[in-house]
Amino acid sequence: MTCPHHNYRELEKEIHTDFKDDMSYGDYLQLSQVLTAQKPLSDQHDEMLFIIIHQSSELWLKLAGHELSAAIENLKNGDFGHAFKVISRVKQIFNQLTQSWNILSTLTPVDYLKFRDALGHSSGFQSYGYRKLEFLLGNKNNELLKVHESDPVIHSELSAILNAPSLYDVTLSILAKQGLNIDEGHLQRDKSQPYEKNESVLNAWLEVYKDADKYFELYELAEKLVDIEDSFQQWRFKHMYTVQRIIGNKTGTGGSSGVAFLKKALDISFFPELFELRTKL
Ligand code: HEM
Repeated sequence: MTCPHHNYRELEKEIHTDFKDDMSYGDYLQLSQVLTAQKPLSDQHDEMLFIIIHQSSELWLKLAGHELSAAIENLKNGDFGHAFKVISRVKQIFNQLTQSWNILSTLTPVDYLKFRDALGHSSGFQSYGYRKLEFLLGNKNNELLKVHESDPVIHSELSAILNAPSLYDVTLSILAKQGLNIDEGHLQRDKSQPYEKNESVLNAWLEVYKDADKYFELYELAEKLVDIEDSFQQWRFKHMYTVQRIIGNKTGTGGSSGVAFLKKALDISFFPELFELRTKL
């Protein structure tokens, strides 16, 4: 018998439809929590976009942190293969995050101002998912812990990451283990302090780049780190630029000067010697 309907898909009889006692898609993903967590404070249509772009970014930031922590562990164990795999994933996550600014750019200055006051002093500056990433990558700054003092669990997690070796610190230990000459004082430096570029590190990378066949894994790792910084900087740039487009030079809800403050972050490099060596080659 032919089906009487056109442009219609008939259900196959094997498809599961009874979830009274069975775990469904929504149960597994806890969608009743995730999809009820959008609670606009105003009656403005565009506030939903604003909330969802932040929440989805936070999920991607969480995944990037999860992957970067794994990359650090893999490198500590000398497992380059798995480290490369997750670092490549992190790069794609950053690209995904950067793309999302194009959606936010459809928010006009006028429409944003209609609900901006409702945000009070809340700001992405207080994003611990983001701060965790910055610390894992090596942008250490203990002053940034202050905004998390009201939440002891998050504060202690961030504080542990601030004090632990970053992705770059672990990489530098590998350089030393492979016989490249890195200043001992630099390897033993206080990991909670901002990273400062070092001549012995620069020379070690130059050796790697000049003899890539001999140091192939290190060479590949270095280029993957450059990929990560490249994609992360694009996120920083698009954030700053989108903010400029939406609020001009107004101060931020978090209390900073706004765009001027965000621009300064663009000067911070996670792996400064990897960029400097390009001049020296
Ligand atoms: C209308 C949209 C947005 C505006 C106007 C805006 C504005 C700002 C401003 C002015 C700052 C500096 C701190 C302050 O004084 O508040 C900031 C920081 C920050 N924002 Fe946004 N933002 C927007 C969207 C987003 C989104 C979608 C995210 C995604 C998670 C985000 C994440 C962050 C982060 C992580 C920081 C800290 C950056 C750093 O420490 O360098 N922002 N934002």
